[in-house]
Amino acid sequence: MKACIRGAAVAMTAISMAVALAACGQGAGNDSDGGNTPRIGLLLPDATTARWETQDRPLLEKAIKELCGNCTVEHANAEGNVAAQQEQLNSMITKGADAIVLVAVDARSLGAAVRKAAEADIPVIAYDRLAEGPISGYVSFDGEEVGRLQGRALLEAMGDRMNGGQIVMMNGDPSDPNAVSFKKGALSALEGRVEIGKAYDTLHWRTETANMNMSGAISALGVGNIDGVYAANDGLAAGSISALKANKVNPLPPVTGQDAELSALRRIVSGDQYMTVYKPFGPEASAGAAMAVAAARGESLDRVATGQVRARGGAVPAVLLPPVSVTVDNIKDTLVKDGVYTIQQICTPQLRAACGKAGLS
Ligand code: BGC
Repeated sequence: MKACIRGAAVAMTAISMAVALAACGQGAGNDSDGGNTPRIGLLLPDATTARWETQDRPLLEKAIKELCGNCTVEHANAEGNVAAQQEQLNSMITKGADAIVLVAVDARSLGAAVRKAAEADIPVIAYDRLAEGPISGYVSFDGEEVGRLQGRALLEAMGDRMNGGQIVMMNGDPSDPNAVSFKKGALSALEGRVEIGKAYDTLHWRTETANMNMSGAISALGVGNIDGVYAANDGLAAGSISALKANKVNPLPPVTGQDAELSALRRIVSGDQYMTVYKPFGPEASAGAAMAVAAARGESLDRVATGQVRARGGAVPAVLLPPVSVTVDNIKDTLVKDGVYTIQQICTPQLRAACGKAGLS
């Protein structure tokens, strides 16, 4: 095991090292699974935002299998329904899961169920969203930095309107602590620089709600009076952009986003969206899987964590990763390079010319 740690430390970054350590534990004959089949529950919040089912779920399942061949993963998606997620969590407690990975629909409302899991000695790993209650570990990105990247990029894209121009803010769901951090980070870049004509919180991060709110903002502010749109993620960007187009706002103002969704990258190439924030899915899932496997085996999470956050009134082992700002200029060096999407996937026949111009060929 010691040689294993040395090898890992020399060759790897913090995250891949954490994953390698969990794998070393297994490879070195750590049989704390005791021949059992550790059961890991995976609770996702909704199918509105593409990442949960298309990126996080398959990557987490794969990474868990790699670290623990005999682990099983039981997955459930709450479809944005708090009561459904409470029920799913309770059912996993009843069935005796060994660890639960939770992306909470609503951090506060899930607190009691998290406490119940802890009382049943089932560790809960808060994945991406910091859940309330006695969680055992946390894996995410620096949320305020996400907001700062979005805010700064928006100012840059607004050019000579960057001082005194008027923007609309499409924030996320305030029951998601990440949304609160994104907004705080964004405001730290935007306040005092631009006029915030309208700002909305978006329940359940729904694209349709952002679409409706943007139509309302256009009616209230006037078609030609929106110089920029802060959209907290790509779904809200999509809803905002379709409302801008339906209301014949031309040219479109710069719009931010987050999640590096395939459809957002296509909008960025075509010029409809200015930027997105890429939060590398692979490292987040690897860290989440390493925590879940360690927790299911009853091992300490400290050797998987690279830091701590203050939660549940104490320090929780955590992995916090840095987000990356993506515009048309660095799609190739980030998402294509990391193998998230191929150029062929991004560049549909209609985008061929724009892709060529963007060096995506
Ligand atoms: C995640 C974002 C996601 C949003 C909506 C946040 O908690 O960090 O990546 O876009 O939820 O699902």
